[in-house]
Amino acid sequence: MKSSSFNHLLAPGRLGGLELPNRVLLPAMDMNLCSDGMITDGEIAHYTARAAGGAAMVITGSGAVAFPLGATSRHQPGLSDDRFIPGLTALADSVHAVGGRLCIQLCHHGKVAGVDTAEERPLLVPSVPVPRFALDALTDNPLAELLRLATATRGKTPTYRVADEDDLAWVIGQFADAAGRVQVAGCDAVEIHAAHGYLLSTFLSNAYNGRIDRWGGTAENRTRLTADVVGAVRRRVGSGFPIIVRINGEEFGIEGGIDAADAATLAPFVEAAGADAIHVSGNAHNPFADFTDGPLPSVVGRYRDLARAVKLAVHIPVIAVGRILPELADEMVAAGDCDFVSMGRQQLADPELVNKLSSGRRSEIRPCINCYVCVEQNFFDSPPRCAVNPALGHESLVSVTSNAVAIPRHVVVIGGGPAGLELGRLASLRGHRVTLLERNDRLGGTAWFSQLTTPANQPFVDWLQHEAIAAGVTVHLGTEATVDVVRALGPDVVVVATGARRGLPDVPGADLPHVHTGDDLRAMITGEGDLEGPLLTRVVLRAGRSLRITLDPERVRTLSKRWMPIGRDVIVVGGGLVGLELAEFFAERGRTVTVLESGAHLGLAMAMPRRWTAVRATAAHGVQLHRNAVVESIDPKYVTYRVGDERHTVSADDVVIASDVHADSSLAESLSQAGFDVRTIGDAAAIGYIEGAIHSAWALAEEL
Ligand SMILES: Cc1cc2nc3c(=O)[nH]c(=O)nc-3n(C[C@H](O)[C@H](O)[C@H](O)COP(=O)(O)O)c2cc1C
Ligand code: SF4
Repeated sequence: MKSSSFNHLLAPGRLGGLELPNRVLLPAMDMNLCSDGMITDGEIAHYTARAAGGAAMVITGSGAVAFPLGATSRHQPGLSDDRFIPGLTALADSVHAVGGRLCIQLCHHGKVAGVDTAEERPLLVPSVPVPRFALDALTDNPLAELLRLATATRGKTPTYRVADEDDLAWVIGQFADAAGRVQVAGCDAVEIHAAHGYLLSTFLSNAYNGRIDRWGGTAENRTRLTADVVGAVRRRVGSGFPIIVRINGEEFGIEGGIDAADAATLAPFVEAAGADAIHVSGNAHNPFADFTDGPLPSVVGRYRDLARAVKLAVHIPVIAVGRILPELADEMVAAGDCDFVSMGRQQLADPELVNKLSSGRRSEIRPCINCYVCVEQNFFDSPPRCAVNPALGHESLVSVTSNAVAIPRHVVVIGGGPAGLELGRLASLRGHRVTLLERNDRLGGTAWFSQLTTPANQPFVDWLQHEAIAAGVTVHLGTEATVDVVRALGPDVVVVATGARRGLPDVPGADLPHVHTGDDLRAMITGEGDLEGPLLTRVVLRAGRSLRITLDPERVRTLSKRWMPIGRDVIVVGGGLVGLELAEFFAERGRTVTVLESGAHLGLAMAMPRRWTAVRATAAHGVQLHRNAVVESIDPKYVTYRVGDERHTVSADDVVIASDVHADSSLAESLSQAGFDVRTIGDAAAIGYIEGAIHSAWALAEEL
């Protein structure tokens, strides 16, 4: 990891009349913890934790200026009535008490105001027809998910109303009144939401605004509504109270949408209207297709150029966002691409991000793995969960897992994957003595292998290892945990975290040598474990292992592009999380890949935005994807499968089984029978991948 002092990022900055201690903001992220628009203790704990963690200012998830009208959820903050002021004051007081600053995001959700649809009010739009989008990605959503997707709208069909002059005057007034309440409540700033497909952004964009009156057409006309809102808010809050405006720097997947040049043309009108800063985000027209482009990009620094384009066009501070990691953030501020940086998911994963940077503890920051688990919950109108930080939405958990125990015990953890490492870390922090046994030559378990196909997992796998060791866990690599080995350690508690059992399907030919389980594959690609196969393969892999090349995921990723002991035609049986990731990995390395999924849906274990993108990306790599495809037999050169009544064969040099994954309690049972106090976590208890591993480790750490 590149070391940096983060001098630019940690330098004080000015935003309107506000002096801020550093350049890192928490961008708006719906917590969905409000009760009918009222701020709850859960919301307060969430934002206070991020303020205490050092963020210069926290911005709340979008608040509805006309709540419940124009609202997307009954769980978002309401700003339309004085009854909401005490909740905002409590939030502001709590954030201020830890030295933070609080900004409230103001929004009218326009064409996506789910509450309006649920209550059969037409959605406010600049013009009709409202551009539609394809729903074919929902093929991979089971009925239960489709029903949950309809929660906020109660499954009703939207109707639209073209905003007239009276509507727009009302909207402007609602924003001004809401901002007035925010100020009265003692908050420090407002952010006007003119991005992400909500009402103001649809006026800004040629793709949604087909008006030919003073509200559409030229850049000045399209900006008029946002500028009038800014002007009205400014008149209400006076000079010195910061007003941020969030805009799209690019709209993905729609013709005529905003691009960097258009954003740079619109921004000066926003500045002239009295805004103190512009926050440059991005948005995808079709959330079911392009959500990983916007508003939550998967590519690091995806909107850097957009921020720079706006920065060149205005004289007020620009805030950048979009999967920005600390090193890049520092570089962007230093380069003058932006003045402030928002880090969203990074601060969901670790609220202490800024404090760790400023105290020289960069490597201790728990990395976000870009898995989209958090935001998936927003699609269901629920509070976000974080795969790597179980305290998200349950901030009190932090103290439970770090509080010292009254009676320290000797905890022997078997398995050095995410569940074992995280349990070891937490138990050690609580004061237990922890010994961890790992049978392989490296820590990380299946997550180590997952870094090859999902590089975003790599920083997290590294973090788990060094944090467990830093917490005091004693690690024994290359150690098989037999009953005798465990007994010799004299544990008080034994934690089995040995992961899943990967089996073979019960079909003829499954025992042929070219049929591989995940474990075989791991050995083949990393040179780990007992090597089988042709002499040359074994020699090359042994050489790789002795040169320690196969311990470096980056090098394995690069070298496997040149050579890999896998034939040309690869069949992947199972189109879940692992199957899709492997399919893309092989396809990127020139293999002809076919995925056979016996169920009706692909990528089910992935959070939806990631799943939709993974399915599309895999297909774009030329992978043949077959749903409802049941394997009947495997022959040395081909696989026979059936879809409905139709039987097919497909050529196969290698067959990878990514389907038969089961929780595995066998070791736990034999240790229990031997008289140990045994607990089981992670995939050994229930298949849950990284999220299941980390959450089950936290749950057990609370108990120990
Ligand atoms: C759970 C979640 C909820 C979000 N809700 C909002 C919101 O209410 N308003 C908004 O402008 N952006 C929202 N966003 C987008 C973030 O503000 C941010 O722009 C985005 O996450 C990209 O930044 P990141 O890559 O640093 O996470 C949300 C993001 C997440 C993860
Ligand atoms: S749930 Fe996943 S994407 Fe969201 S913050 Fe946590 S690690 Fe990051």
